[in-house]
Amino acid sequence: MAETFHRVVLAHDVEERAVLPFVVNGWPVLVCREEGAIHALINRCTHAAAPLAPDGRVRRGAVMCPLHGARFKLDTGECLGGAGYKPLKLYPWREDADGWIEVAVPDEAPGMEHLPVKPLA
Ligand code: FES
Repeated sequence: MAETFHRVVLAHDVEERAVLPFVVNGWPVLVCREEGAIHALINRCTHAAAPLAPDGRVRRGAVMCPLHGARFKLDTGECLGGAGYKPLKLYPWREDADGWIEVAVPDEAPGMEHLPVKPLA
């Protein structure tokens, strides 16, 4: 599936431990920062589809789901702690010359096979 980069947020607006929600071409995106590093992941828990941002917490290289507490590694999307939930989708991202974080999402809007519940408006 082809992907395109979209401007999402200025890098300097992503504060340490921020967990920011966006919708890009219908895809739920979270952008966060920990120890200076930016991460972009799908904003939908693979357990029961709760949004991870803005109420999830970033700590020790992982984001914690605010609904039941599952933790997912920021660099791989892997679920920690033996719960066995599917990994989170990671989005490619880059910072452009103007300081914007651009996130690549599929050109096609997500279908139900990608999101277990109704896509965000
Ligand atoms: S919905 Fe995220 S842990 Fe249950």
